[in-house]
Parts: sequence; structure tokens; C-alpha cells
Amino acid sequence: MVKFKLNKIGRHYLIALMSISSFGVIAHGAVTPQAIDTSTLPTLGEEWTDTNPYRDEQGDTLKEIIRVGGSAYNQNCARCHGLGGISGGIAPDLRQLPADYDGDEWYIYRVQNGAVRNGAVYMPKMSEHLNQEALWSIRTWLESVSEE
Ligand code: HEC
Repeated sequence: MVKFKLNKIGRHYLIALMSISSFGVIAHGAVTPQAIDTSTLPTLGEEWTDTNPYRDEQGDTLKEIIRVGGSAYNQNCARCHGLGGISGGIAPDLRQLPADYDGDEWYIYRVQNGAVRNGAVYMPKMSEHLNQEALWSIRTWLESVSEE
């Protein structure tokens, strides 16, 4: 799984790694993730789904998912991945993740495992702080601004 993605985005990683000073990592990692109110979203339960369960929603439901997702992104991901999804180079630009099954698989892997190397936390395990409703709403918002 990692191998197939590295071809496409390996360059982002190198750039991301080179631009992260150890001070930056500590400063980012120390920020407490913000709880997100997901009570207005369709409930998904504890078990993680394989693909974005919100992708096929429509109308007002989809609008609400995107609204919550955009706000959750800006509160929890933007400090590293960039405001509005536009990466400043610290971390990969998430608008470029494919809006399909492959992108979902990689998305789930990262939000559950974060990115930790040699004890340094480059990205926290976001699923320890946000439920799957919040994380899939973020994914749905990202797809709405996709730059694939
Ligand atoms: C403290 C900084 C930080 C925060 C906060 C953060 N990330 Fe990340 N994220 C990173 C870094 C750095 C990488 C690249 C990791 C690597 O190359 O090993 C990354 C990688 C990813 C990837 C893989 C992207 C790719 O192109 O390979 C996804 C998906 C992702 N993050 C999602 C999220 C989401 C969703 C949030 C918010 C809920 C979030 N991240 C919050 C730093 C962060």
C-alpha cells in the first residue's frame, strides 16, 4: 500500500520532511485536537467502513457533511496541511488524494496511524481524537475541493 502511493507522492514527502525543523514538529504536535460536533451527521458506529460512506449522500445532508467537514479540517488539520486545503509545504496537499477507493484506503491508514518516525510525531493519530463521522466528513469536504 505504501509503495503504490510513494511513486505518486514521494516527492511531497521529501519536501515535507526537509521543511520540518524539529522545533516545528514539536510545536505542531503539541496543539490539542479540537472536538467536533457530529450530531447533525448520519451516524456510522464504531466499526470503520472501507470507503467514504458519505460520498453518495445528496442534497441538504451532503451540504451539512461538507459544512462540518470543512470546519473540522480547519480546526484539526489546517495547521499542518494548510488553510482551505492549500498546503504550504509542511505536509502533503490533501486535495490531491484520489476521490475513490484507493484514496480512501490511504486516508484511513494515515488518520488511524498518523506519521511517527524514530519517536518524532509528524502527524498525530487523528482517529484517537476524532470519531469516524468527523473524519469522513473531512474527507468528503476534501473531495469537494479536490485538485486531483
Ligand atoms: C502535526 C501536523 C499534522 C496534522 C495536525 C495533521 N497532519 Fe496529516 N500529515 C502530516 C504530515 C507531516 C504528513 C506526511 C507524513 C509522511 O510523509 O510520513 C501527513 C500525511 C497525511 C495524509 C497522507 C497524505 C498523502 O498524500 O500521502 C493524510 C491523508 C493526512 N495526513 C490526513 C490528515 C487529516 C485528515 C488531518 C486532520 C484530521 C491531519 N492529517 C492532521 C502532518 C499533519
